[in-house]
Amino acid sequence: PLKVTKICCIGAGYVGGPTCAVIALKCPHIQVTIVDLNKARIDAWNSPDFALPIYEPGLVEVVRQARGRNLFFSTDVDKGIEEADLIFVSVNTPTKKSGVGAGFAADLNYVELATRRIATVATSSKIVVEKSTVPCRTAESMRTILEANSRPNCRFDILSNPEFLAEGTAIADLFSPDRVLIGSLQTQEGIDACESLKQVYANWVPPHSHCRPLVFRAVQLAANAMLAQRISSVNALSALCEATGANIDEVAHAIGYDSRIGPKFLKASVGFGGSCFQKDILNLVYLSESCHLPEVAAYWRQVVEMNEYQKRRFSKRVVDTLFNTITGKRIAVLGFAFKADTGDTRESAAITLIRDFQSEKALVNIYDPQVSHEQIWTDLQEASPLAPLNTIKKQVTICKSAIEACKDAEAVVIATEWKEFKDIDWEAVYASMNKPAFVFDGRLLIDADKLRKIGFTVTTIGRPSSTLV
Ligand code: NAD
Ligand code: UDX
Repeated sequence: PLKVTKICCIGAGYVGGPTCAVIALKCPHIQVTIVDLNKARIDAWNSPDFALPIYEPGLVEVVRQARGRNLFFSTDVDKGIEEADLIFVSVNTPTKKSGVGAGFAADLNYVELATRRIATVATSSKIVVEKSTVPCRTAESMRTILEANSRPNCRFDILSNPEFLAEGTAIADLFSPDRVLIGSLQTQEGIDACESLKQVYANWVPPHSHCRPLVFRAVQLAANAMLAQRISSVNALSALCEATGANIDEVAHAIGYDSRIGPKFLKASVGFGGSCFQKDILNLVYLSESCHLPEVAAYWRQVVEMNEYQKRRFSKRVVDTLFNTITGKRIAVLGFAFKADTGDTRESAAITLIRDFQSEKALVNIYDPQVSHEQIWTDLQEASPLAPLNTIKKQVTICKSAIEACKDAEAVVIATEWKEFKDIDWEAVYASMNKPAFVFDGRLLIDADKLRKIGFTVTTIGRPSSTLV
């Protein structure tokens, strides 16, 4: 098998950036070039003060060690392709907005454009690794495109290597992955290509977690669907807990003692977000329908519907608790990212909540430690396409701290579980708010009893409102 010496990664996003930065760190003998068409993104990866385009704990340290040594970021996609012997395709695969499968199927246009570029530019043989989350049989399409357009003496071996990192813990996940899946054709060439990629991971991943043959490209869709289903199940139970007087945290804890279920990923929340769960489930729904399995499709669709219900239910609870109207009232939303330790806002529950508050004519103050103001305005504009940005800006203020956001507010809503929200000076927050002062904890983050002692009226997801006062 070929010994890989030069890797190119097409796509410098949340997956390509951290994944290939870690490969560069762990494999100093391999030159890694991450390319992207988005110049602003590449400039940020190259910024002298390491103001990287994505926030991820530990990422700066990795880039600091490897950048300029054997890790490079560039907009010269063609040069990156030409030089490499192994190419990761790590471009975005968003849900299609129009055409066949709109709203469900993955948009494979970016994958195809990147593949065609490889075919056009390559003058030597390449191993092409599909890292983006793509439907079954995409590798076959890539192979057909590459073979139909390749020059003589250029071979392309296609591998599937789905990525399982979670944002916020990407570096830790990449340092010690639960498993590495690599799929290939079961021909000698395919097996050799698989071995070449295996050798790259072998620089730091123990061999036992290596290279299970990838029989079903939908493994990643299935894994994400089952993780999301766990959260929707817990969130469905949280509604029951609120109605019956139980406590979801205690219920989840007790359930997690069953070793078959396990304690992780059972935290009730205001709803899951992120770029993967909803997109991948909708993809699975589409796949199920394409296979004429409507009951299977309906089952998975319900996971997303439960999530929408959870968000709606939470904003309704805020309105109900604030005496059935929030018109003209100031609400501080703490957290805008879809989870803690990331600046990513894709599908964040906070966006939906704020849109709901806006439509009830509330005034909203927002604070998040990592999300840029520009990103917040873009997301709010997308959520309310008919409202001019100026109108949105009359209702919404972005604040520089949690304390500033809470000043003169009627209610505080915790939308993201940033640790710093636990440690705010809640006494000072209480003193600066209108009374009665309400806190809504959508993340089971704060010590409700402590806040009640200060004087707050606290509503926690998955706990009944009757025990509030
Ligand atoms: P992203 O949008 O952050 O990054 C994709 C990048 O690819 C963008 O910067 C874009 O400019 C670039 N790009 C698109 N077409 C290109 C082309 N032809 N040439 C060069 N650059 C091009 O996306 P992401 O979050 O990194 O996700 C990438 C893929 O990985 C998706 O398929 C996603 O489903 C999958 N995935 C994501 C996660 C996650 O946690 N974000 C985890 C596992 C898998
Ligand atoms: C997910 C998968 O975990 C990862 O393996 C895959 O590669 C990409 O998709 P990610 O979306 O980055 O990762 O984060 P994850 O930690 O899975 O959280 C997703 C959403 O679920 C977040 O909004 C999070 O707040 C929420 N969540 C998670 C809960 O509400 N409760 C939990 O117990 C866990």
